[in-house]
Amino acid sequence: MDSGQPQRITKDGIHLHAPEDFAGMHKAGRLAATILDRVAPEVVPGQTTGKLDQLIQGMVEEAGATSATIGYRGYQHASCISLNHVVCHGIPGAPIPPSKYEKRPRGNDMLVDGDILNIDVTVVVDGWFGDTSRMFVAGTPKPFAQRLIQVTHDALMIGIEAVRPGNTFGDIGAAIQSFAEGQRMSVVRDFCGHGLGRVFHAPPNVLHYGRAGTGPMLEEGMFFTIEPMLNLGRPETKVLADDWTAITRDKALSAQFEHSVGVTADGVDIFTLSPAGKFHPT
Ligand code: MF3
Ligand code: CO
Ligand code: CO
Repeated sequence: MDSGQPQRITKDGIHLHAPEDFAGMHKAGRLAATILDRVAPEVVPGQTTGKLDQLIQGMVEEAGATSATIGYRGYQHASCISLNHVVCHGIPGAPIPPSKYEKRPRGNDMLVDGDILNIDVTVVVDGWFGDTSRMFVAGTPKPFAQRLIQVTHDALMIGIEAVRPGNTFGDIGAAIQSFAEGQRMSVVRDFCGHGLGRVFHAPPNVLHYGRAGTGPMLEEGMFFTIEPMLNLGRPETKVLADDWTAITRDKALSAQFEHSVGVTADGVDIFTLSPAGKFHPT
């Protein structure tokens, strides 16, 4: 940093960014969201997850940006693509793991009618990280899948509404959890949101459950993601032998939406809004 400004870090290790840092996050966040906007029409039955990732990687390169995930802890792809009962970190191009709705493994990475999938993209623009994910549907979703998607999207936005100076991280988690469980869905505990900025994953862990009034206080200049994963069945997950793909233990459907946000003087700034207004699929 050459701004001459002192680095400000809270006692919980959370970076407090300067007002001028918001512009960098907006640029990175807008690119990540634009890439998801542009990939949306490609999500159709017969498409493969490997091809979707290639398209995403091409868009990152075309923008002169970098993928944050390629080379991250040995991960080799520009996106995570998580289908049906995959909770997160699904690997593009890998055979889709069999769900409880399928009699036998698919054995390939091709989408079929009714699949629901999360695509998660993180890009680096001028050193700033933009991290966002949203749900897509191949063909026509089952009504229960559509409802899971709607509730998960609403849960994220309800969590974001709790972001303002003076509230705590526990307020965000409590808002998400009480809404989700009130809709008879469960909240995944094994994965969380995270601080970000000039780094991909930084303090704090942003839990999507918890008690109001607990956890660190929100302060102007904090940048972090909120990325709740909701399940139609139980909350427990397990990671497959590839060491990445996390699925629901009961193999029931899971959904996730993710925004990168910043705390402003009186509320929240969402860095990853969809320029095309396509964040929500339906
Ligand atoms: N984008 C994911 C997140 O929301 C992280 C993916 S890491 C990867 O934090 F290596 F799996 F791509
Ligand atoms: Co994230
Ligand atoms: Co992400």
